[in-house]
Amino acid sequence: MRKVRIGALVSGGGTNLQSVLDAIGRGEINGEVVVVISDRPEAYALERARKHGIKAVHMDRKKCGTGIQAELEGMQVDVVVLAGFLTILDRDFVKAYEGRIINIHPSLIPAFCGKGFYGEKVHRAAVEYGVKVSGATVHFVDEGTDSGPIILQAAVAVAGDDTAETLAAKVLEIEHKLLPEAVRLYCSGSLRIEGRIVRISGEGC
Ligand code: GRF
Repeated sequence: MRKVRIGALVSGGGTNLQSVLDAIGRGEINGEVVVVISDRPEAYALERARKHGIKAVHMDRKKCGTGIQAELEGMQVDVVVLAGFLTILDRDFVKAYEGRIINIHPSLIPAFCGKGFYGEKVHRAAVEYGVKVSGATVHFVDEGTDSGPIILQAAVAVAGDDTAETLAAKVLEIEHKLLPEAVRLYCSGSLRIEGRIVRISGEGC
């Protein structure tokens, strides 16, 4: 089976990107990351790409609309993985890649998501709300924010003495398992979108 060509969009340290690269390195994913694009020149995720000999591109936020699509098309990318990408995507781009953009969000969507909920803000809101469970969600991207069909979720217990920082660390650990698994499922052709529902073949569907 041909290897699925993956493009990653990043803004930060790239630990989620690294978890996908490591899973690919272990032979667990029928895919290869062919380009990593960041809206931040200083994103360490770009350095992680370079270390793996992967094309690493800084794209100014103003160009993040058509520029990203042109770069991905130029690299013949099949699926786009948002691994901590903070710029809102161009609507035309999302339409053109419908069903082929995967995002990871550090909460159990639909809780603590949407406009303004990113990074530590998500965990601070969860701790302040007093939830007993939080976690991570991997979903397909639609024209909304964190609103596309959910692929996988995993939960973590929120302890009484948890802070936004300690919760963030717990959730990040989960993310590093969830994102590679979602990418593995996509690259093995195991995901089918039926309206809001993502069917995973081999899972009683
Ligand atoms: C993760 O918490 C992810 O859920 C969110 O951005 C963060 C990215 O972290 N979208 P990293 O850059 O992958 O370390």
